[in-house]
Amino acid sequence: MSFFLCFWAAYYVSLAAAAIGPIDTSKPSIPNGATVANAAPPGPFFQDFKPPFPTTGWWVGYAAAPSQNSVVAGPFPYMSQALDTGIQFGVSTTRTFDGTSIIQTTQMDWQASYVQNPNTHTSHKATGWDTQSVTVKYFAASGAGFTTYLVPGSPYMTFNYNAATILLTSENGNIISINGQTVGTSSGAISPSLSVTGTKFTVTNSAGTYAVYSLGGSISLTATATTLTGGATFTGVIRIAKVTAESTSQAVLDQYSANYPTGVALDYTFAGDNATMSFTWNVVGNPANLLHLSWPHHRFHLVNPAFVTGLSHLTTKGYMKPVVGNVWKLAYALPTITWQAPRAPQASCTQQIIQALEYEVAHLTVAVPGDFYYWGKAFQATARLALIADHVGRQDLIPAVLTVLEQSFAYWTASGKTTYAAYETAWGGVVDGAGATDPNIDFGNGYYNDHHFHYGYMLHGAAVIAKYDAAWWTANKAFVTAFARDIANPSTADPYFTVARCKDWFAGHSWASGIANGGGSRDQESIGEAVNAYYGLILFSNILGNADITNWARLLWATEVDGAQTYWHLYPNANDPDTPYPEAGLRALTTIGNVMDYQAGAWTFWGAQRSEIAAIQILPVTPINEGMYDTAWLNGVWNYVSGELVDPTVGDEWKAVIYMAYGEVSPQTAFARSTNITGWGGTTSQAYLLYHLATRKNAAGGNICTAGTANPAGTFAIRAPNGKFVISSNATPNLVANASVGSPFLFAYMPGGGSILNKAMSQFVTADPNAAVPLAAARAVAQAYENFKVVQQADGTYVILAGVNAQYVTVDSTGALVNNGANVAAAAKFSLVAQ
Ligand SMILES: *[C@@H]1O[C@H](CO)[C@@H](O)[C@H](O)[C@H]1NC(C)=O
Ligand SMILES: *[C@@H]1O[C@H](CO)[C@@H](O)[C@H](O)[C@H]1NC(C)=O
Ligand SMILES: *[C@@H]1O[C@H](CO)[C@@H](O)[C@H](O)[C@H]1NC(C)=O
Repeated sequence: MSFFLCFWAAYYVSLAAAAIGPIDTSKPSIPNGATVANAAPPGPFFQDFKPPFPTTGWWVGYAAAPSQNSVVAGPFPYMSQALDTGIQFGVSTTRTFDGTSIIQTTQMDWQASYVQNPNTHTSHKATGWDTQSVTVKYFAASGAGFTTYLVPGSPYMTFNYNAATILLTSENGNIISINGQTVGTSSGAISPSLSVTGTKFTVTNSAGTYAVYSLGGSISLTATATTLTGGATFTGVIRIAKVTAESTSQAVLDQYSANYPTGVALDYTFAGDNATMSFTWNVVGNPANLLHLSWPHHRFHLVNPAFVTGLSHLTTKGYMKPVVGNVWKLAYALPTITWQAPRAPQASCTQQIIQALEYEVAHLTVAVPGDFYYWGKAFQATARLALIADHVGRQDLIPAVLTVLEQSFAYWTASGKTTYAAYETAWGGVVDGAGATDPNIDFGNGYYNDHHFHYGYMLHGAAVIAKYDAAWWTANKAFVTAFARDIANPSTADPYFTVARCKDWFAGHSWASGIANGGGSRDQESIGEAVNAYYGLILFSNILGNADITNWARLLWATEVDGAQTYWHLYPNANDPDTPYPEAGLRALTTIGNVMDYQAGAWTFWGAQRSEIAAIQILPVTPINEGMYDTAWLNGVWNYVSGELVDPTVGDEWKAVIYMAYGEVSPQTAFARSTNITGWGGTTSQAYLLYHLATRKNAAGGNICTAGTANPAGTFAIRAPNGKFVISSNATPNLVANASVGSPFLFAYMPGGGSILNKAMSQFVTADPNAAVPLAAARAVAQAYENFKVVQQADGTYVILAGVNAQYVTVDSTGALVNNGANVAAAAKFSLVAQ
């Protein structure tokens, strides 16, 4: 009861509070009460506050260890750095395309400070923040100082001085001129020293021209080679704005300079499956005349915007262009898909789905957590099998899936494990306990990297268990809820978690970077996993039965997908003035691998293949993602990766997810191309692939799946073309055709082909991916390397294709079986003799 009272009170007293209340406000329920403290706690920037703190937003570099002074990209169009000496800022004017990425080099143009600044580490601090902006105060014991409102989108930097002497320092070469009068000489000497008085100035250094406005009456500024110093202590507001190349930009800046934002309130309304998200800036001056810059995704979604021309900045997200007014309403369509695909699996596929599903359920293994990331992927992929079983009418298979999921999840609630969850007290959040002192564990989870990726998988799997096992949910609900709160707390009324940890509401997507590396540049590499985070939240909210949280989750999902389509998906032929990437050479790369705050490019931290770069933006494939994989982008990706899709050295795990996504364009083509997949990676499986293709829109109509050529099933002796039978033994496991009596080989179905077991040894035949050694009966379980296609020829003989390298088995002069035949013509033709 007290939780509701607390929430509603907060809502009514503060207009800034968002419309949806917290998921929970109680102390997070962590097994064994585990707590840890991050080894890099925030510095004195947060001296007036207690956790929870934001860990992932654009400005965390102001607060993160070791020095709380990283260069941060923001508040856009500016980049900035909160130093002891003052706040530095600049607009990046160097944009390069290096063939892979567009890069806007970080750049500082000016530092704003005051003469009385004690220049100590504790003499600046946050005084408040909201979902987009932060307010920073520089202060001296005397009371002198200034406050700056760092609000993304503002074309002006704003400094509210109190009884302080203005000190502006050029950070980009010497000052060249002020109000058109030359300052100094080429040697840097001031001749003569220059003082100017007024309420507006233009000042030029190597960065170009900035306009300086005083909203506090006339001031005088005295120039040296590198500084502008106020003539007296000043109380009032100074605004400083980069004058752009457009001839009109200074007139636009002049016109709106009197109205400044101090922060912004995020709100949203829902009507059926539509959301209207609003940004309402708090303005000093006339709110209706706030000048604020928009990015491309804003312009696609703004309702009745009042655009202004004549001032623009090219940033890593494309051109920022002005809009007038302090309220932006942005319209988004919300997803309606929940657990399963919104249409039944096509009958042409169901038999194959069920065959694969039965095999996969029979071969499930319990994923033991060694981290959150890989564990989460396995947990979600396993959970999807329960939903597929449900959708194909095989509810009898669900309990076996749940048993494995519950055993796997139980590792998190057991005590004494080296991999464990803990509440982290320095910043406030749930982390991988061991990672709190080591950013190399679990991709930096303990330093707040990748939380949405990791916990989206967790929420997804847990929601699936809960859907079928109410008792399990009752026992685990509180713990699971901690992960939802960690990545998607909607409200400042939750005292344990920051609001929507990863989402940058102004940038239009999430960031994966936390507090490691001084909280410097922001990054998000796998947009597919970010989208999946909010899908997991949708399923979790569905279990909660809380329609508000469901709408919140759907908004988080819709804005992330919009970010994917705007900033990750590239459209080579786009001739849109609002494309974020005017460079045709970048757009030809079809997909961004990494969106960072000062660069974006077609690369990943770990792999350079085109299919890897594309697939990590696609996975995990889920039913809801039909709203993310747009046709134009899929066609571009398909062409871009076509060479790799037929290259046996490119991993099947990437091909599998590309084929699944391509099902939106042509499920028939995707099916045909997927038939020689033998590895599915951590996020999918054969049953899942087939189910996904079977449930696509299939605009062209017709059957999606065709009957495969199944391997022969049963126990056989294998006779080689040399007339000898194939044998192997524990002493010599390699397969060799030199015997008159063959070993008994059991041929059986497995997804993507079949396995071959030497029954005498109980060992599966395995193939070397490089064909450097012969086939050998040497594996206790059959996985990708043990997957073969055995295809009958017109004359009744069989060829054997090794899935691992897509090469046919040959017999060499010693009788050894080797998977090195390029085609059927090169393949050995075997006879199978039933045993
Ligand atoms: C949702 O938005 C669509 C497109 O703008 C519109 O046609 C539809 O009427 C809206 N639905 C509701 C319930 O507002
Ligand atoms: C997969 O099989 C098809 C024929 O079904 C073939 O054209 C293609 O080259 C194969 N892919 C690989 C990578 O071997
Ligand atoms: C067949 O080859 C295996 C492995 O080289 C060898 O151990 C065995 O003696 C050979 N058998 C015959 C009959 O040559």
